[in-house]
Amino acid sequence: METVSFINMADGTKADYEFLGKHEEEYAKGLPGRLIEALKKLEHSFSGYKVSRLEHSLQSATRAHQDGRSVEYVVAALLHDIGDELAPYSHSEMAASILRPYVEERIYWIIKTHGVFQMYYYAHLTGGDQNARDRYKDNPWYEDAVEFCHLYDQNCFDPEYKSKPLAFFEPMIADVFGREPAFGE
Ligand SMILES: [Fe+2]
Ligand SMILES: [Fe+2]
Repeated sequence: METVSFINMADGTKADYEFLGKHEEEYAKGLPGRLIEALKKLEHSFSGYKVSRLEHSLQSATRAHQDGRSVEYVVAALLHDIGDELAPYSHSEMAASILRPYVEERIYWIIKTHGVFQMYYYAHLTGGDQNARDRYKDNPWYEDAVEFCHLYDQNCFDPEYKSKPLAFFEPMIADVFGREPAFGE
């Protein structure tokens, strides 16, 4: 296998980094497929709710789609809890980081903060601060985050709900993650 010349990054050449850049670009093309596999794993994520984490995600995306939300928004809804597996105490940030290069800043922010906004529905029963979301009161997207949690998160635990299958959303994942990524800081 062809590899770079260095064992310390500090010794790498321009050619090495061009070579790596091509590999990275090629690998990124597989991102939609990896995300779909990660979503499938949510079927067997932590239990206790009346629906699996995958079903919760499908309900969120289905409702967003039926409300005529943008494809970016629907995909964000589908992925909003994808961090449950690897980031149980910071799952919002993980999902938001995955989405960030591909979606508008507002959607990134909604997903990044949804864990805090979601506390409004239960934190008063668990010793937390139900109004923790108030810290974002002056943010221009505050109401958008309130809306996301109300319409596409807190209500998506219904075993009777007829959600679209994951396959329905796969072309949308391919669309959003097939776009030219924008790199922030
Ligand atoms: Fe969540
Ligand atoms: Fe959720």
